[in-house]
Amino acid sequence: MARATDAYEQHLADHERDRRRAQGSFYTPPELVGWILDRALPRTPDATVLDPACGTGHFLVAAAERLGVRAVHGSDLDPEAVRIARERLQALDPTVAADEIAQRVVVADGLTAWAGRTFDAVVGNPPFLGQLRRRSAGRSEEHRRGLGAYTDTSAVFLHRALGLVAPGGVVALVQPLSVLAARDAGPVRAAVAACGAITDFWTSDRPVFEGTPVLTCVPVVRAGAGPATDPDAWGRLAAPAFGVPSPVLPDDGPVVGDLADCTADFRDQFYGLAPFVRDALPGGTPLVTTGLIDPAESRWGTTATRFARVRYDAPSVDLAALRAEGSLARWADARLVPKLLVAGQGRVIEAVADEHGAWLPSVPVVSVVPRDRADLWRLLAVLLAPPVVAHAATRYLGTGLTPGSVKVSARQVAALPLPPPSGAAAWAEGAALARRAQHAGDAGERAGLLVEAGQVMTAAYGAGDDVLAWWAARVRRRTDESGAVAGSAPA
Ligand SMILES: C[S@@+](CC[C@H](N)C(=O)[O-])C[C@H]1O[C@@H](n2cnc3c(N)ncnc32)[C@H](O)[C@@H]1O
Repeated sequence: MARATDAYEQHLADHERDRRRAQGSFYTPPELVGWILDRALPRTPDATVLDPACGTGHFLVAAAERLGVRAVHGSDLDPEAVRIARERLQALDPTVAADEIAQRVVVADGLTAWAGRTFDAVVGNPPFLGQLRRRSAGRSEEHRRGLGAYTDTSAVFLHRALGLVAPGGVVALVQPLSVLAARDAGPVRAAVAACGAITDFWTSDRPVFEGTPVLTCVPVVRAGAGPATDPDAWGRLAAPAFGVPSPVLPDDGPVVGDLADCTADFRDQFYGLAPFVRDALPGGTPLVTTGLIDPAESRWGTTATRFARVRYDAPSVDLAALRAEGSLARWADARLVPKLLVAGQGRVIEAVADEHGAWLPSVPVVSVVPRDRADLWRLLAVLLAPPVVAHAATRYLGTGLTPGSVKVSARQVAALPLPPPSGAAAWAEGAALARRAQHAGDAGERAGLLVEAGQVMTAAYGAGDDVLAWWAARVRRRTDESGAVAGSAPA
C-alpha cells in the first residue's frame, strides 16, 4: 500500500506540478509525523484523532497503528488522495468495514467539515496557500472565519482546529515558519493564546519537505494549558534553532516611535520619482536605495545600484523638475530633513544618518525622522545596538526573504525598544561612537568604531556577551542581501 501512496505522490510531483502547488500537496516525512504523534496522541482507549487535510493519510495510518483504525478521522478535497488513505486504513485492519472507514475519511473541505464535533487530537500538515496561489487556484475560501485575505490557508486551518479540539486535547499542525510573526497570522496566534498554550515546538533551519524550499515549524498547542503563549513572541520558540540569542528587552518601556516618526514610502513615490531620476546629475539630490545602506555608511556614489530596473552609478533626483511637476513636491520637502535611513532587510539592521537632510529614500527604505534633531545619533546607536538587532531577529523570525535576514517594517522600527534609564550614560557614549563610525576615514576605522559602539550599546541594554558575539559575526559576514530587492517595483 505504501507503494500506491508513493506512486500517487510521485505522480503529483512529476506530472502535476501546478496542481500540487495549488493544493499545497507536499507530504510529511515519517520522522516528523512520529514526532507530532508522540506529543499529540492521548493514551486513553477511546481517543479520537482528526487530520483535516489528510492527503493520502500519512498521519492517519501512523495514528491508526497506535490507536486503531476506528480512532482516526480525515478530510481532503482530493478524491484520489482520500481513496488511497481509505485503502491504506483498510489494509491496516481488514476487520473494519469499508463503509465505516468511508464515513470517517471523507472528501470534504477541512475548513468547514466536522462542524459540531470535537477530537482529542487535531494533527496534520494542512496546505500552505498564500493569497496569490489561492487566487490562481480559483479558491474563494469564504469560510476564512473572519481572518483577513492575506492570512495563509495553513493558519486558517490552525484557527479552525482550535474549535475542533476537545478540552485538554492537542492541536499540532505543520505551519510555515512565517506563522511565528506574520502580521496576518496575528489573530490566529491570539486565538491560540485564548485556547491554551504552546507546550512543545519543532522547527528546522533547513527545508524538510521534498520539492519546496519553505521552512516549517510545528507549534504543539494544548487546549486549556497555561500560561498562554504571548502572540507577539512566538519567534522566541524558534530562535535557538537559528542560533539567534533572545535578549529579554522590556515590552512596555519607551520605543523608537516615542522619539521619531518612522515611515516607508510606497508605489506612489516609486512611480512618481522614476521620471526624475538621472545618473550622476550635477547638483542632483542623491536617491538612496536599500542596497546602498550599510551600518553607519551610505555607499551612494561609490557603489552602483538599481532603481526601477535601471542601473545607476549615482542615482540623482532632478529636484527642480520634480518640484515644478508638483505631485511629489510636498513629499520631497518632508523627506529632506535630518533623518536615519534604514534598509528593512539585511544581516543586521542597516541604518545610516542623513545628518544634513540631503538625501531622498527609495522604496522600501524606512525613514526615521527624529522630532528633536539632537536625537539623531542616539537613534542611530539604538538601531545599531546588538540587543535591538537580536530582539528584531527573534521577534520577526521567519518573515524575511531568507531565515538569516532581519526584516523590519516602518511600524516595527517604531516599536523597537530604547535603552532603560540605567543605560543612559552608555547610550550617550554609543551615540558618540555611532557618529564617529559614520565619519570614519576608512572601512577599517569604521569597523572598529562599530564594534566599540556595539559593545557600549550591549551594556546600555544590560545584555550579555552572547548577543554581542552573534551581532559581531553578522556584521562581519554581512553581504549585500538588501541589494537583491533594491529598485524592485513595490507590489
Ligand atoms: C501538504 S498536503 C498534506 C497531506 C497530509 N497531511 C500528509 O502530510 O500526508 C495538503 C493536503 O491538503 C489538501 N487540501 C487542500 N485544501 C484543502 C481543504 N480546503 N480541505 C481539505 N484538504 C485540503 C490537499 O489536497 C493535500 O492533500
